[in-house]
Amino acid sequence: MSEKPILQVQNLSVEFHTYAGTIKAIRDVSFDLNQGETLAIVGESGSGKSVTTHTLMGLNASNASISTGHIFYKGKDLLKFSEEEFEELRGGEVAMIFQDPMTSLDPTMKIGKQIMEVILLHDDDADDKSAASRALELMKQVGIPQAEEHFDDYPHEWSGGMRQRAVIAIALAGNPDILIADEPTTALDVTIQAQILHLMKKIQTEIDSSIIFITHDLGVVAGMADKVAVMYAGQIVEYGSTEEIFYNPQHPYTWGLLNSMPTTDLATTELASIPGTPPDLLNLPKGDPFAPRNQYALDIDYEEQPPFFQLSATHFAATWLLDKRAPKVTPPASILKRWHRWKQLASQGGLPKISKYGVAGQNKTAKDTASLRTDAKSAEKGDL
Ligand SMILES: Nc1ncnc2c1ncn2[C@@H]1O[C@H](COP(=O)(O)OP(=O)(O)O)[C@@H](O)[C@H]1O
Ligand SMILES: [Mg+2]
Repeated sequence: MSEKPILQVQNLSVEFHTYAGTIKAIRDVSFDLNQGETLAIVGESGSGKSVTTHTLMGLNASNASISTGHIFYKGKDLLKFSEEEFEELRGGEVAMIFQDPMTSLDPTMKIGKQIMEVILLHDDDADDKSAASRALELMKQVGIPQAEEHFDDYPHEWSGGMRQRAVIAIALAGNPDILIADEPTTALDVTIQAQILHLMKKIQTEIDSSIIFITHDLGVVAGMADKVAVMYAGQIVEYGSTEEIFYNPQHPYTWGLLNSMPTTDLATTELASIPGTPPDLLNLPKGDPFAPRNQYALDIDYEEQPPFFQLSATHFAATWLLDKRAPKVTPPASILKRWHRWKQLASQGGLPKISKYGVAGQNKTAKDTASLRTDAKSAEKGDL
């Protein structure tokens, strides 16, 4: 993993123009992605995760406009790209995996052929024969059992988990530098989710690509991401290494997400969802949009947006609680335990590594085998 950013998103704001008014979908979003790194974007539904990545791919709806910002990919400003240049980029250097694999699969075309098409499109030296053998290799790489026999299957013949593997094979066929996965496991059952996450991680180490992984579930981030951007109401509210977000969280919204997540790394029994609902993006309230749901809100939260406070070279949080004039608050006991653990390990010189813990009920049960048709059955005999 090198430290040179391959992607830089700077102060990106996107609005949608509707009959009801202007929806401020994302505001002032900035992050970097280094080669070989995984960034997780986490937040509740409607927080702007998909809009952020759709903007990178030139995939926003026609009523969208970019009001501020820059996106540099290998030094080129993506916001100046033409539709043709975006088409070239998509499926090639930057590939996307959506929640529903059928978004990316053609139901009328054999799966092997769909992978071949991408290879033929992006590799000028490939012919039908070499593309077919590479497609087969990719099917094996993503763990399709008896790939030869299933090369000519149609998408409907496969289960959801296997279709998502096919989508990953298609994404890999363009040799992507960046793989964007937008809630790729949400539609799958927990065991299959773990298999797909495990597969993505394995492939990433093999091809040294960067990943942007979108999820509403902070639980899947452990063991997956190097760094995390927590989004609320279209803004990044906390940004840091995965260890910083899990062990030294500073934003009350991040506290809420952590408290509503079952974990194995700390003995936490209280689970609570964050009360209230996100704000109306058509009529954003004055001040911090999280204030009405924030039990730690200060008066100033209703008046003025908090700026980013920097906690380390890599850790930022936008909460007035970090202002030196703010009163000391006592966060939930589970968060205090996390802070305590962070201090303890930091003072011993070794910071905790999140990845080795995994997540209860997910990574533990992961086995990289499954049936093509029914996720629940095994494909030991290779028959469907
Ligand atoms: N084409 C559109 N027209 C109007 N509003 C949109 C459009 N696309 C997305 N939005 C709004 O932008 C906000 C962010 O959406 P999105 O990025 O999809 O959230 P999520 O975090 O769930 O992926 C939501 O309020 C959504 O309703
Ligand atoms: Mg989304």
